[in-house]
Amino acid sequence: MKIRTYLPLFAVLLLLSFVSVAFVNEPETPESTGKIIKENVHEVAGVVADGEEIYMTRCLSCHMANGEGVPGVFPPLTGSEYVTGDKGQVIRMILNGLTGEITVKDVTYSGMMPPWGGFLDDQQIADVLTYVRSSFGNEAEGVSAEEVAAVRAKVGDRKEAWTIEELNQEENQGIPGGD
Ligand code: HEC
Repeated sequence: MKIRTYLPLFAVLLLLSFVSVAFVNEPETPESTGKIIKENVHEVAGVVADGEEIYMTRCLSCHMANGEGVPGVFPPLTGSEYVTGDKGQVIRMILNGLTGEITVKDVTYSGMMPPWGGFLDDQQIADVLTYVRSSFGNEAEGVSAEEVAAVRAKVGDRKEAWTIEELNQEENQGIPGGD
């Protein structure tokens, strides 16, 4: 028998196999959709919850793995009153950066800390600040994404880095709407 006779049959079989594959792989069951959503949430939470990882990638190069910094060049985060002090002040520093002279643990620094507000979202800033406030021997309360969001809203679209003189003014401290 000639192969041509079977061609329509092949075509039909091919079509059927496509259709059945489409049905077998159909992902829209409530169970599988729930699983996909859960996996996504877990992935996002896993990334943002890791304050230590953010520290490693964004802060360690200057403030060093142990938070000691480099004397005279990059100030320490360990035992720094700015890290463990007013949350609103340190959130502002991270959002917009810091410039001018600052004295930390009796050493004066005159460097430039880059702004992080455009690179890190509220949750990431909260996570990294929670990490530094509770690491290197520091023991201060954590920072929440809501607190960062409130400060970010207050600061608005300010582009300039802060000086510590500005941040020592009460109007540039605290969490708006907080205590
Ligand atoms: C490119 C280097 C650099 C990186 C990266 C950097 N900083 Fe800084 N940081 C500085 C410098 C320089 C100062 C001091 C600025 C000045 O002299 O006015 C500073 C100051 C600070 C201060 C206030 C002073 C102190 O020691 O307590 C805090 C808090 C701080 N940084 C936290 C962070 C955090 C958190 C990150 C990561 C998100 C980070 N920094 C990333 C360079 C850096």
